[in-house]
Amino acid sequence: MLKKTAIAGLFTLISAYSMAQNTTLPIYLDESKPVEQRVQDALSRMTLEEKVAMLHAQSKFSSPGVPRLGIPEFWTTDGPHGVRPEVMWDEWNQAGWTNDSVIAYPALTALSATWNKKMSWNYGKALGEEARYRKKDILLGPGVNIYRTPLNGRNFEYMGEDPYLTSKMVVPYIKGVQSNGVATSVKHYALNNQEMFRHTSNVIVDDRTLYEIYLPPFKAAVTEGNSWTIMGAYDMYKGQYASQNQYLLNDILKKEWGYKGVVVSDWGAVNNTEQAIHNGLDLEFGSWTNGLSAGTKNAYDNYYLAKPYLDLIKSGKVGTKELDDKVTRLLNLAYKTTMNTKKPFGNVASEEHKAVAKEIGEEGIVLLKNQGNVLPIDLNKAKRIAVIGENAIKIMTVGGGSSSLKVKYETLPLDGIKSRFGKQADVKFARGYVGDIGGEYNGVQSGQDLKDERSADILLKEAVDLAKNSDYVIFVGGLNKSDFQDSEGNDRKSYGLPYNQDNVIAALAKAHKNFAVVLVSGNAVAMPWIKDVPTVLQSWYLGSEAGNSIASILAGDANPSGKLPFTFPVKLEDNSAHQLGEYPGNKEELAAGKGKDQKNPINIKYNEGIFVGYRWHDTQKIKPLFSFGHGLSYTTFKFGKAKADKTTISQNDTITFTVNIKNTGKKAGAEVVQLYINDIKSSVPRPSKELKGFEKVFLNPDEEKEVSITIDKTALSFFDAEKHEWVAESGDFEALIGNSSDAIKTKVKFTLK
Ligand code: BGC
Repeated sequence: MLKKTAIAGLFTLISAYSMAQNTTLPIYLDESKPVEQRVQDALSRMTLEEKVAMLHAQSKFSSPGVPRLGIPEFWTTDGPHGVRPEVMWDEWNQAGWTNDSVIAYPALTALSATWNKKMSWNYGKALGEEARYRKKDILLGPGVNIYRTPLNGRNFEYMGEDPYLTSKMVVPYIKGVQSNGVATSVKHYALNNQEMFRHTSNVIVDDRTLYEIYLPPFKAAVTEGNSWTIMGAYDMYKGQYASQNQYLLNDILKKEWGYKGVVVSDWGAVNNTEQAIHNGLDLEFGSWTNGLSAGTKNAYDNYYLAKPYLDLIKSGKVGTKELDDKVTRLLNLAYKTTMNTKKPFGNVASEEHKAVAKEIGEEGIVLLKNQGNVLPIDLNKAKRIAVIGENAIKIMTVGGGSSSLKVKYETLPLDGIKSRFGKQADVKFARGYVGDIGGEYNGVQSGQDLKDERSADILLKEAVDLAKNSDYVIFVGGLNKSDFQDSEGNDRKSYGLPYNQDNVIAALAKAHKNFAVVLVSGNAVAMPWIKDVPTVLQSWYLGSEAGNSIASILAGDANPSGKLPFTFPVKLEDNSAHQLGEYPGNKEELAAGKGKDQKNPINIKYNEGIFVGYRWHDTQKIKPLFSFGHGLSYTTFKFGKAKADKTTISQNDTITFTVNIKNTGKKAGAEVVQLYINDIKSSVPRPSKELKGFEKVFLNPDEEKEVSITIDKTALSFFDAEKHEWVAESGDFEALIGNSSDAIKTKVKFTLK
């Protein structure tokens, strides 16, 4: 008996061995073969139906692979601040998994405010690891739409108003994420600069503005960052929806920039089969099942790039050239992601990830004002600390739209402050005002009960009384992630702070001189009380470690080094889109009710052209409340006199500027050396300065460093729309070096031959 079993076992082994010897892997699975060959092999094995199936969603966030060939499905996820919780197959609502909570990283505005490329890589690497662990292949982010108006509800998900800063900060994020075998999907390409009318508007922008302001971050993302996918936007450009747009996708992205990756539609952004086939889209998501329009049976078969496409091919009305191109791109993506056997396994909520989130938060917080050095809090004097304001106790990772998260934990500002100061000081809280008590998104509950029915007067009195009986008063307010605040789908209705906060702040400023306002927001806000408030911190949405990052800055454990990635105008009308441009759209068309549906879209003309943000303020000499690039420190820095390595350069030369920077204070800290270029005389209107280089420098007290920044003619060029090329005109230029767009410390003149 034993013998028999042993012999049978031996036989099995031998036959398995000989089978393995005889089996040759099909080329598409053979890792020793070049990817192009594997792609061609896979393509040659696929039926027409299998190819078409790959081009569109099969659920809210996934698209099919080729089951017969073992080519896996693609699983996408939002993006961009953490990995979104699992939703139902066909609905936005929660799937109810219990293993899908993650770390929330600071919002992209905060990342951008670090002006530190290293932070951006750390961010991408950590986030990519979480995406990988959650078995995601495509992360729907980062967002790089330029900050045109402070009302845009989605500014918090983007990187500010400057194309250069955004370009430099987005590239390491992409590389970090993709080092995990997870693709990024840089979004929303292009011209989605407001939420209002995002599905029903047509943006009119001149070519120069398009190329100088709105396209550079996308170009950097695909040409330098090599983002494996890119997401088309909802809005129209030249009368065509961006996700099926000949100009944006074919002419610019795929031809001019040579993009070989995958164009993903925004969810529900496709509405025309012919355009989707011919104008450069590769992968369609969210068209039905209440993505944008209504649900229908067998929804996914009815996608524009599904049965309608198949029918057109079968009837001979369209060929298969576009189809094969799209599938080739998707297969290439598969070899980098789903079929990449070398990709790491990832991890979620490691100590490293928490540290990354905390550090980016600390580096991103911007000290806007600190008269009389109210901050850092003097631990010897602070026996009683008053914390006032709803944002000290409100969960901010739930809400805001598609970037909403389900987190392992979120440290609230009040808790962060208590755990940092609680040993030495009595930390007391008063609400001050009631703003928004909601705390739910797509079925994720914040779990907080923020109901408070006391009157505004009673809340205010309680806050002022507490302030008067304290040594330090920290107000934590700002905006939140509710509809019409910092949230997807709608814009803010006004520039001011909501919920009576201006009154509360003004009263607290009168009550105590050791007073600091901490603004939690992703947007600029009006500050009518600014003269009376000594200290203001701009704290963005900082994710899981929010409270700890804030407390660390308040205590001076970390020295603030963030710089604003966008201008804070004094009033809304000072912003160029509001003064010159059309927001939220053409006035007459607005009055005539346009923009209500896709049949009656509204035009939005960017009349301000290239004069966006500080380009407008500085050229027009409109003093902002706080300028682009602004941010203070607990120490002081001195800039030396800048030098250039030559006085004249030719078109193919580079020029290097060097400046000495010294920490002249008593605390270690970091300063951002910012290089702006001014074209002294030009044949076209140019901004008085444009950012073309920056470097963050860490210095101990008394330490000094030489910082060198090299540029070439691209930093001197403007986009000549007629010639359709970048032109650097010979003549005199100035390199302006400082620590904010309105604080230039040293200048060097040079000439381009
Ligand atoms: C948003 C995208 C998001 C997608 C999927 C869309 O409404 O605009 O940014 O990635 O939904 O959630």
